[in-house]
Amino acid sequence: MSLTDVAAPAGVVVGRVEDVPPGEGRAFVADGVQIAVFRLRDGSLHATQAACPHAGGPLADGQTDVDVLVCPLHQYAYRWGDGASTSGAAPIRVYPVREEDGALVVTL
Ligand code: FES
Repeated sequence: MSLTDVAAPAGVVVGRVEDVPPGEGRAFVADGVQIAVFRLRDGSLHATQAACPHAGGPLADGQTDVDVLVCPLHQYAYRWGDGASTSGAAPIRVYPVREEDGALVVTL
């Protein structure tokens, strides 16, 4: 078996890393699914569903830190790792996201 025999992880290219300024999020559509992609100031990438489950707030406009995303409408917070709410809301979906040659690749 050679390295070329190893299949690359599946994913959908949604944009370029530079489309998401450090410390911010942006909304994208991946295979018809609305998602939000975040680039934290430490360089890490995260992807979530685009709409907050509480009342549809635009999560891409939320505040971020290394642990959580905070919805801009009513400040419910969600953990990056599993999407669980730390403030009593329903969880959000989180998606694996990676950078490949400058492209943002999300696995749905
Ligand atoms: S819409 Fe997100 S907390 Fe209310």
